[in-house]
Amino acid sequence: MALLLHLSDVDENRWAERLGEKLGDYPIVRRGDAYDPADIRYIFVWKPKDDAFDGLDNLKAVLSLGAGVDALMRHPRLPEGVPIVRFVDDELSQCMSDYVVAHVTMHHRLYTRYRAAQAAREWTQLYPPPAWDINVGVMGLGVLGQDALKRLRPLGFNLLGWSRSPKPIEGVKGFAGPDQFDSFLSQTDILVNLLPLTPETQGILNYETFGKLRRGVLDGGPAIVNPARGGHQVEADIVAALGDGTLGAASLDVFAVEPLPKVSPLWSIENCYITPHIAAISNPETGVNYFSKVLLDHEAGKPLVNVVDVAKGY
Ligand code: NAP
Ligand code: GLV
Repeated sequence: MALLLHLSDVDENRWAERLGEKLGDYPIVRRGDAYDPADIRYIFVWKPKDDAFDGLDNLKAVLSLGAGVDALMRHPRLPEGVPIVRFVDDELSQCMSDYVVAHVTMHHRLYTRYRAAQAAREWTQLYPPPAWDINVGVMGLGVLGQDALKRLRPLGFNLLGWSRSPKPIEGVKGFAGPDQFDSFLSQTDILVNLLPLTPETQGILNYETFGKLRRGVLDGGPAIVNPARGGHQVEADIVAALGDGTLGAASLDVFAVEPLPKVSPLWSIENCYITPHIAAISNPETGVNYFSKVLLDHEAGKPLVNVVDVAKGY
């Protein structure tokens, strides 16, 4: 029995070291070590290569370093019937909510307009409405969407939420399913996307969606904040909508191609705020506590937690 680490594009050494400290006698192996694939009970993955699961015939669980499992769902040789545990963590939620609160408040207070006025040395007094007049709509009411709403609430915003199934949340006007999507959009001034990327949500941030947002409350037009996945957004539509005023501003942490290519027009749009997929990064310090507990609890006969519903894709 052993845990296999298969982490690409992150510091695997650091995770291996910390997991070694936490897991005690439980054996950990890495790609390149000599091991029998039949001995692997758990695999800890981020951006697994195509051959990652080959020969792992006795897997009990796949542990996903990411909260989002869309790339894993598209893996060409993902083993069938093996549960996938995704990362759910207070620090990750807090960091995501920090990002959301920062960008929502920035758009509410018309940051782009004042920055432009400052650059032009112009004394232009605009009057952003009070937070209670601003409707913030969060798409996706899972772990991160609910945390973001909880942190936005004390700031006074009017809160709306949209999910696949109804989710009654105190202080939040709820909408569910495709039938209520347009009604949700028509009441939203700042749209925050915290959906998982699935075939249903691919490209949901498009020109038609932007055109349905509420106008007339935020000076310059409604704003979007997307820290979920690049596949949710149609980037050419964002460029067009920011250009013609359908959108007043956009905050984007994720992109269809990452790193965002230097040739992307998004880089140079004044009312587009780009961050390099850093809204909420899995932290080894808290991550090892979570994943070692998942593994040791499961070895002790307890059920796995935060298991992905493969049929739904999240
Ligand atoms: P989650 O707990 O699985 O929540 C997903 C929510 O989306 C649920 O409320 C679900 O509805 C809703 N949903 C799914 N499909 C839908 C559809 N077709 N229509 C309407 N609602 C739908 O996910 P999470 O942990 O909050 O994470 C959300 C995403 O954040 C991740 O998938 C990942 O892509 C992204 N993320 C980004 C970063 C970053 O650094 N940028 C970091 C972490 C995560 P139900 O409640 O009805 O199931
Ligand atoms: C990061 O994007 C994650 O899914 O955790």
